[in-house]
Amino acid sequence: MTSRAPAPDIIPREHLDFGLDGDIPRFWLAGDPFKTRLFDAMSTLFPVGERFFITCVRDFKDRITDPKLQQQIKDFTRQEAQHSMLHTRYNQRLADQGIGVDRILEGQERRLFGIIRKKLSREFSLGITAAAEHITAIMADAFVERHHILDGADDRIRALYVWHAMEEMEHKAVAYDVLTGVAQASYLTRVLSMLLVTILFPFHVFRIMRHMLQVDGFSRWERTRIWAKGLWWLYKPGGVFLPLLGQYFSYLKPGFHPWDEPVVPCYPEWSRLMAERSPIDASKQLMNYLNAHGGARG
Ligand SMILES: [Fe+2]
Ligand SMILES: [Fe+2]
Repeated sequence: MTSRAPAPDIIPREHLDFGLDGDIPRFWLAGDPFKTRLFDAMSTLFPVGERFFITCVRDFKDRITDPKLQQQIKDFTRQEAQHSMLHTRYNQRLADQGIGVDRILEGQERRLFGIIRKKLSREFSLGITAAAEHITAIMADAFVERHHILDGADDRIRALYVWHAMEEMEHKAVAYDVLTGVAQASYLTRVLSMLLVTILFPFHVFRIMRHMLQVDGFSRWERTRIWAKGLWWLYKPGGVFLPLLGQYFSYLKPGFHPWDEPVVPCYPEWSRLMAERSPIDASKQLMNYLNAHGGARG
């Protein structure tokens, strides 16, 4: 049996101000339309997606007797509710830019998550939640520890994504523990639900990005160039995606547990900074800390 890393406390952080109503540039990530719209498209998936995650975990609430897990579910729910709320505010910025946010959210509600809830079992829906939580937990490594991905980002939005990614890491085992310990889902459910998420997640993100880049007014030729350059940045050797593949595949190991992988090394520093400072300041200080300590792995 492999030894597990200690799990941190799940700390719901509320009343956070990221200054999202301010003068954030349209292409806030290094002036790059592809990178910016990738994060913007993910943001439109969070409010409905995170409500779905909460519902799927709560489906099994009555079967949970362990007080520790009960408390973790409460804290997980509070964190996801905050994420949902802040990303709704973020998405208002996108709506103000002419992005069809209402239509995107309605489509997710009725088609994507609505169909999953209607057609698939509660157990499989929870499998989808646990799989998605594994992917969002990897974000902490991708966005923070490998912080060059967010290089050149607007401070406000970087702070939001750093906060979201770190909290995803804090609560990464909750849905999984309900899936395996309470719902007693089979290995096949775990693998198939991950497969579905792996197909659906990029498909929807790319579809939303396509709409966003059209609204941005780029010509067909400009959009072709943006996509070619962006997809290369994502999938090239040593790019965003491939270095994370090992962590992604670990989910498919039969004896996997989310805490096989410890918190990212800078997590204690970030958590301390968040307790003392504004989230934007904490994120800035964290970048200084990472630079001073040799920064990112990878
Ligand atoms: Fe979240
Ligand atoms: Fe989450």
